[in-house]
Amino acid sequence: MSSPTSTIVQCLSTAPSNNEKKVLAVPGGINPALVKMEYAVRGPIVQRAEQITEQLNKKDESSSLPFDQVIYCNIGNPQSVGQQPVTFLRQVLSILVCPSLISADPSPFPSDVVGRAKDILAHSHGIGAYTASPGLPFIRDQIVKAITSRDNGIPASSDKIFLTNGASDAVKAVLQLLIRSPNDGIMIPIPQYPLYSATLTSISGAQVPYFLDEDAVKDQWSLDIDELQRSYDDAKEKGIDVRALVVINPGNPTGHVLSRDQVHGIVRFCERNNVLIMADEVYQTNVFKPSEFISFKRAVVEVGSNVELASFHSVSKGVLGECGIRAGYVEIHNMDEETRQMLYKVVSVNLCSNVLGQAAVSIMMNPPQPGDPSYELYSKEVGDIFNGLQRKSQKLSQALNTFEGVTCNTSQGAMYLFPRITVPEKAIEEAKKQGLSAPDVLYCMEMLEETGICTVPGSGFGQKEGTYHFRTTFLPPEDQMDGVVEQMRSFHHNFLQKYS
Ligand SMILES: Cc1ncc(COP(=O)(O)O)c(C=O)c1O
Repeated sequence: MSSPTSTIVQCLSTAPSNNEKKVLAVPGGINPALVKMEYAVRGPIVQRAEQITEQLNKKDESSSLPFDQVIYCNIGNPQSVGQQPVTFLRQVLSILVCPSLISADPSPFPSDVVGRAKDILAHSHGIGAYTASPGLPFIRDQIVKAITSRDNGIPASSDKIFLTNGASDAVKAVLQLLIRSPNDGIMIPIPQYPLYSATLTSISGAQVPYFLDEDAVKDQWSLDIDELQRSYDDAKEKGIDVRALVVINPGNPTGHVLSRDQVHGIVRFCERNNVLIMADEVYQTNVFKPSEFISFKRAVVEVGSNVELASFHSVSKGVLGECGIRAGYVEIHNMDEETRQMLYKVVSVNLCSNVLGQAAVSIMMNPPQPGDPSYELYSKEVGDIFNGLQRKSQKLSQALNTFEGVTCNTSQGAMYLFPRITVPEKAIEEAKKQGLSAPDVLYCMEMLEETGICTVPGSGFGQKEGTYHFRTTFLPPEDQMDGVVEQMRSFHHNFLQKYS
């Protein structure tokens, strides 16, 4: 008699292997909304960059390449291009991962690190246990304190804060609440960070684009209220129910920072048109002087508006750059209790966000204070990162502006530059011939193949028809920036020659 195991093995080995018996690997077998979804910052150019990186790692194949490393300027992922983690944050997390370090004698850590870790452990069951769905109350209280101080005393409340695995999950949760049918639309900036277009495609919501004004004389890439109204009215005419407006401030990919008047104007627009505001503020601490960050929460209260607001923040950006830890939060404001309960239910499906990430948010919102043993080192580290980013952004934008046919915004904040390029007619034809989706894909692909610099074509973010751009970060280490600039310059020159 055969054993149960041998019967299973026999069944498996005789199971039909043709595609007709597969669920996903048949035509139309995958959710068409997901097939349609695009996400340029991880698109074909990045995939090619990863192939080249593998090639460079194999010594015998690397000699055929004209460079010895791929420089990833495609994504705001600071630690992947050499930014060092901030010591205080990692020391606290180390103890949370290994609590026995608390009793190490002598202690490898300053006393405030140990104190902070003890506090988090005392208010949780450690990083291995689920927390309440929206996150640990103790950490939500710290967020409340920090945003109250950021917003000049405007109160916040911990039951309006939901910790998530990165801002991305919070954005998706709010979009899920908003989209009821394909006729529901969300206003998104063009150019935009593709989290919004991709999520909307995946949940079959309508994208309602509004254009940022690259040609504004004084305030490049600013947001114009007349353009918001045009976009809203166009969508209404097409029968779309406009539910929300996404504003990314500071902007990705544009690096633009909204003035107080602009933020107030947007709040009034949303109130007039009964549209919820989704304020993506993940770059709120990446703001270069003289620009100033004004939160939408503050603006809504200053204007005395009852418009509904969801604002997002993250540990991935700022000066911590802890993208891999996957932590962020959303604050909701002016929302009904029933809506709040629904958001609670949606985030509860994930049980809770990762607890190490929650601890990272706690440190972002409550860093060492003057007089604390870690204060000096913390201030030096974050100051060096911030000042380095500002210097690198200036160096790269100034250089790009000297390239033939290129105009580049000076970054007021965030981590990106979005230069406009003039693409010769022959290059446009070549892109068509190769079946590429846009001429700037050809530009970025050739830049990668010739220099190893990985950027993202402007078409991945949306742009005005007939204009071409690419997005680059200014994150590579300072000692590599001169090289990056010179490689980009010589590539650009050769590209124009080749296709002129
Ligand atoms: C504008 C914007 N929003 C959200 C995110 C996602 O952030 P997180 O890593 O917190 O999910 C990014 C990441 O680059 C971003 O640029």
